Amino acid sequence: MYRTFVLFLLISSTYCDSSTLNNHHFPKNFKLGAATAAYQIEGGWNEDGKGVHMWDWYTHTFPEKIKFNYTADVACDSYHKWEEDVKLLKNLGVSHYRMSISWSRILPNGTANNINLKGVEYYLNIFKALKEANIEPMVTLYHWDLPIYFHEMGGWYNPLLAKYFGEYARVCYKYFGEYVKTWITINEPQSTCLGGYAEGTKAPGYIHMGEGLYQCAYVHLLAHASAYHIYDKEFREAQQGRISIVIDSGWAEPASDSDSDVSAAQVERDFVLGIYANPIYNGDWPQAVIDNVAQRSYLEGFPKSRLPQLTQEEIDFINGTSDFFCLNTYSTNYITSGNKVNESIGDPSYYLDKGTSSFVDPSWPSDVQWVHLVPWGFRKLLKYVYEHFNHPEIFVTENGWADLTGQLNDTNRITYISEYLSALLDAHYEDGVNVTGYTVWSLLDNFEWTNGYTQKLGLVQVDFQSENRTRTPKDSFKWYQGVIEKRCLVEECIE
Ligand code: NOJ
Repeated sequence: MYRTFVLFLLISSTYCDSSTLNNHHFPKNFKLGAATAAYQIEGGWNEDGKGVHMWDWYTHTFPEKIKFNYTADVACDSYHKWEEDVKLLKNLGVSHYRMSISWSRILPNGTANNINLKGVEYYLNIFKALKEANIEPMVTLYHWDLPIYFHEMGGWYNPLLAKYFGEYARVCYKYFGEYVKTWITINEPQSTCLGGYAEGTKAPGYIHMGEGLYQCAYVHLLAHASAYHIYDKEFREAQQGRISIVIDSGWAEPASDSDSDVSAAQVERDFVLGIYANPIYNGDWPQAVIDNVAQRSYLEGFPKSRLPQLTQEEIDFINGTSDFFCLNTYSTNYITSGNKVNESIGDPSYYLDKGTSSFVDPSWPSDVQWVHLVPWGFRKLLKYVYEHFNHPEIFVTENGWADLTGQLNDTNRITYISEYLSALLDAHYEDGVNVTGYTVWSLLDNFEWTNGYTQKLGLVQVDFQSENRTRTPKDSFKWYQGVIEKRCLVEECIE
């Protein structure tokens, strides 16, 4: 205990300018944790009856789409080394561990008529060990590893998926509900729908800029709501847990005070964050999304809007399906207006529907192009989410720093996380935002999707060259351990 504390002081004073950090204690029940996801750490891709999923297929079929042709067939080998991971978590002192279940490990074909008990056992063992270590599991049902069977049926374009996702969720509640009291249905629909089903930069690599993202968003919302209602009706009373969806967004800051930049930033938020959050927290798509897509579809000669219109029944089915707000966020962008809604009519495109353009300030510290140290943007985002989505309890389910080296003395990661936590405390104490938890991405360096193992976000380094996948805690691990122990970012905290 004493050793950790001294290390914490040493590391804090070396790396952080504590004078600028918020000096309040974390609120009494505030949770500090760490996260991973099944495909990124588990390996064991074809062991013990696991079925094939979309990322297995994508990395094996299109090796050229992944940096250095990497796959996650072995990844951190957590399928075999989960006990070591739980020990690391215990040593770190976290209150919760956000992890995901691999759908095809539990249901090899995706469908609930064939349950793989070996897969069930794998997760049960982890949950039991977490319980023993007094760590609360926060479990994502779907973190991008869609069973191949559903991919072949059109994946997230196919509304039938909502029914099958609900059935899979029911199996998980049934087998794991005794241990799991915090459920997340789906991770980051924006990343999937933009990357996988519109731009084609992530699995499954579909390019459909005009309709892809909207149809994918629509099916995600239906699937999420199905899983929510099944929990609500069939399990909540007995299991006494809660359930939400993770929504990802950076902060969209107007590039200037001009009316056009201010309204462009709002439209950007509607098209990136609101398109998923509004139907769940307020009902229906954001008005700007409805209007822009309808107008452009009309000018492009479509008989009706490319945005699926939600029926009243669907609006009611989706609205209110969240017990709290889960937010993943890494960066900020400046937003300015791009094309007008009635300009550049030609190939249908989500980007032209949105009509904004974005850029970052080159002075913002960054090691990779999608993470920037902009803590004030994080604070504004928290406030915005709180004010626009019915004052929900907000839980930060992912935030962290990516570097290219994976070095043990990860100064930049410590600076980033400490400044973001400080901004979070500002949002709580000064802006009155009800934010109740923070989860570092990630516990381990892991398979960073199409970037393979080239981008590192772990508090723990993993040696991907060694058969043992040796884990070595970085300086940020020791620093975060100190923060959790002290519940404070500076030497002396006030209440
Ligand atoms: C988003 C995803 O949820 C996670 O899988 C990914 O590794 C991190 N953020 C970093 O990109």
